[in-house]
Amino acid sequence: MSSNTEVHIGIDRMGMFVPEQYLDVEDLARARHVEPAKFTRGIGQSRMSVPRHCDDIVSMGANAIAEILPDIDIDRLGLLIVGTESGIDQSKSSSLFIKHLLNLANRIESFEIKEACFGATAGLFVAYHYVAAHPDRTVLVVASDVARYGLGTAGEVTQGAGAIAMLVSADPDILVLNDDAEDYSDDINDFWRPNGHTEALVDGKYSTQVYLDFFRHVFDEYRDKTALGLDDFGALLFHLPFTKMGMKALRVALEDADVDDRKRLEHNFEMSARYSRDVGNLYTGSLYLSLLSWLEHADLDQAGSGDGSLAGTRIALFSYGSGAMCKFFTGRIQPGYRRGLRAESHARMLNARKRLTVQEYEQLFDEYYASEDVQTEKPESGFYYAGVKHDIRQYSRA
Ligand code: COA
Repeated sequence: MSSNTEVHIGIDRMGMFVPEQYLDVEDLARARHVEPAKFTRGIGQSRMSVPRHCDDIVSMGANAIAEILPDIDIDRLGLLIVGTESGIDQSKSSSLFIKHLLNLANRIESFEIKEACFGATAGLFVAYHYVAAHPDRTVLVVASDVARYGLGTAGEVTQGAGAIAMLVSADPDILVLNDDAEDYSDDINDFWRPNGHTEALVDGKYSTQVYLDFFRHVFDEYRDKTALGLDDFGALLFHLPFTKMGMKALRVALEDADVDDRKRLEHNFEMSARYSRDVGNLYTGSLYLSLLSWLEHADLDQAGSGDGSLAGTRIALFSYGSGAMCKFFTGRIQPGYRRGLRAESHARMLNARKRLTVQEYEQLFDEYYASEDVQTEKPESGFYYAGVKHDIRQYSRA
C-alpha cells in the first residue's frame, strides 16, 4: 500500500476474554519457596489467568469476538484471522471453528497465522492491506492463546490465557495505523514448541536479551528514518509476556529522555501494564492487551488533563514473536475511541474471577491436556470446548 493513500485504516473495536479463574502469584511464590517480591516486583506480575479444560483458543477467541459482535456489520465482514501459538490441530484452522460458532457467513475468508507471539500483529497487517484493497469491507483479527511453561519452571509465573478480538476497518473509531513500520527478523532459538510438546521450550534469559536487542534495532532505525523523537509519542506500548519485560524495553527507549518525556512515558507504561499484571501472558494477544489496558485506564489517571481524552495522541507499539520476528509501528488515537471500548465490562470480568489455591491450579494444569475426551465442567457463560468425539473437537455454549 502506498504511503500517500487517503484511506485511514486501523482498529475500530476491541473485545477481550479471560478464563473465570486465576492464581495469585504471591500464593505461587510461597508454594515454590520464592520470595513473593521476586514475582510481584522482579517479574512484575500479580495474578495469572488459569484456563480449565473447557477454555481453548477456539472458545476464548469466540468469546472475545462475541463481546463486540453486536457492533459489527456482518454484511461488510470479509475476513476472519486467528493469530495463535497454541494450535489445536496441525491442519485445520481454529478460525473455521470460531466462524461456525458465531454463525458467520460462509462467504467469509478465514485462516490462522503462526509466528509465536507475532501472529496477531501479522494478522493485523494482513487486515490493513485487505482493507486498503477493499475499503468497504472489514476484518476480524483474533489473538487467542494458552501460555504454558510447566509446574515449577522458571517461566511458570509468566503463564496466562485469554483472547483479544479486533475489528479492522477504514475510518476506525479507536486507532488509525500509520504506514511507517520498521521490521526485523532472524532465525533464533529462544522459545519454541516442538510437535508433541504441550509446553513451550524457552531459554528465558536469552529470549529477554533478543527481545531487547531487536527492540533497540527497530527503535533506532525508526527514529533515523522518521526523525521523530520521544516527545512525538504519548505512549510506547510493548508485547508484555511479563510486565518487567516491557519495562526493560522502555528503559532502552528512555536512555536519552528528558524529565517530561520520561515521566509521561513511564506513567503511560504503567497504565498499559495493568491488565497484563492481572491476567498474565496472552502470548500473541499480549501487545493488544497492553493497548486495551492503556486505552481503558490512561485518561482516568492523568490528573489535570482536561477531559482526559486521548484523542489525537500518537502512540508506538512494539510487537515481538520468538524465533524471532518484530515490528515497531505507530498509530493515532481517534476522537471516537471510547465507542470501541468496554472498560466497565472488562473490570467486571476480571473482578468476577475465582481465586484458585495452588493445589487447584496444579490440578487444572495437569488435566488441561490429560485427556482429549474428558467431560468438562461448563463455564458460567459463553462458548466452551466440550471434548473430542470421533477425533473431532466439539464446542458448545453455556
Ligand atoms: N525482590 C525483587 N526482585 C527480585 C527478587 C526479590 N526478592 N529476587 C529476584 N528478583 C528479580 C531479579 O533481580 C530479576 O530482575 P532483573 O530481570 O531486573 O534482573 C528478576 O527478579 C527475575 O529473576 P531471575 O532470577 O533473574 O530470573 P528467573 O530465573 O526467575 O527467570 C525469566 C525469569 C523471565 C527468565 C523466566 O520467568 C522465563 O523464562 N520466563 C519466560 C520468558 C519469556 O516469556 N520469554 C518470551 C519473551 S517474548
